[in-house]
Amino acid sequence: MGKRVAVLTSGGDAPGMNMAIRAIAKLGAAAGVEILGVERGYDGLMDGSFRDLNRSNVNGFAAAKGLDLIGSLGGTVLGSARSARFRTEEGRAEAAKRLAEAGVGALVVIGGNGSLTGAHLLSKEHPKLQVMGMPASIDNDIGCTGLAIGVDTALNTIVEACDRISDTARAHRRAFVVEVMGRECGYLAMASAIAVGADAVLFREQGRSEEDVMKSVEDAIVRGFAPGRDKKRVLIIKSEGVKVPATLLARTLDERLGERLGVDIRATVLGHLVRGGSPSYQDRAMAGRLSMQALGALLEGASDEMVAWQAPVEGGTATKDPHVSRFTLEQVLEETDALLDGSSPITQRRVKMMERVEGVLGL
Ligand code: F6P
Repeated sequence: MGKRVAVLTSGGDAPGMNMAIRAIAKLGAAAGVEILGVERGYDGLMDGSFRDLNRSNVNGFAAAKGLDLIGSLGGTVLGSARSARFRTEEGRAEAAKRLAEAGVGALVVIGGNGSLTGAHLLSKEHPKLQVMGMPASIDNDIGCTGLAIGVDTALNTIVEACDRISDTARAHRRAFVVEVMGRECGYLAMASAIAVGADAVLFREQGRSEEDVMKSVEDAIVRGFAPGRDKKRVLIIKSEGVKVPATLLARTLDERLGERLGVDIRATVLGHLVRGGSPSYQDRAMAGRLSMQALGALLEGASDEMVAWQAPVEGGTATKDPHVSRFTLEQVLEETDALLDGSSPITQRRVKMMERVEGVLGL
């Protein structure tokens, strides 16, 4: 593996990334491996922006003492980027050259599916370099892992926000359409809808037309505020993958139903709010345990793989941690595609389960 391991965070930041950086740095120090932090994801890698994470007092955060402080921070102290340059073979060759010049034999990539695609290509084109992925994205759209770093914190933030929205909604007897992030994956919407007792949930994987989306929101509001029911609020969770804007849904239905039902209909887009904040216990613990197995796998000589948490699919390599297994990045990326195009049994199960749940939520 060589004497040095580099670590970077890439793509959309996720709470818990700092915990993973900290864990890799500390575990590396304990194993006598020098750990370099790469600034600004793949962009910084191609520019050779490295920081020594083991040595004390580097730029204010990387000291052994400073590392203790970063685990509770959201975002990523290394910075992140969505790099267009790294999508080219030339960009990846530049990155491999920078790593070789810095004496780095292995790279840990903490990020989502775009970042893991880059990691896989880098590994294929430069096989002497060991590459290990760690799943981190609030979207939970990464194959082979039950959870990605950041998902739990994001869900807690959504639950808190919806509870607050429900307070004001009840005070005015209002309906709210709340949009949550997740890109093309409806996991955050599905999981949070159950936890907040929403009246309906909309996510791309349902495959509903714009008309059907409008109708299901209308039905939920009419049902919720039906005469004889003393319901004080109706809450509809919409995933951002459903392309009808939450504001358009609310405005249209406010005009159509507001006066007749005597209620107001509003929209709130939670947006990037959901990506920030101090990581939850689950994200911190998971980031630490995934880091331990990621570094361990590199020390064993593994490459072109990702460590996964409570894998929902067969295969993979067991690790010393019963919750963590390792999968080839090739399998991870195939499973990711299947999750998103709907051919994965996991997606099919989620959609079916939510159909049943929706019937219950609407009662
Ligand atoms: O992938 C994480 C995510 O927050 C998605 O949920 C969202 O669609 C996207 O990133 C937003 O990206 P950006 O921060 O580049 O606008």
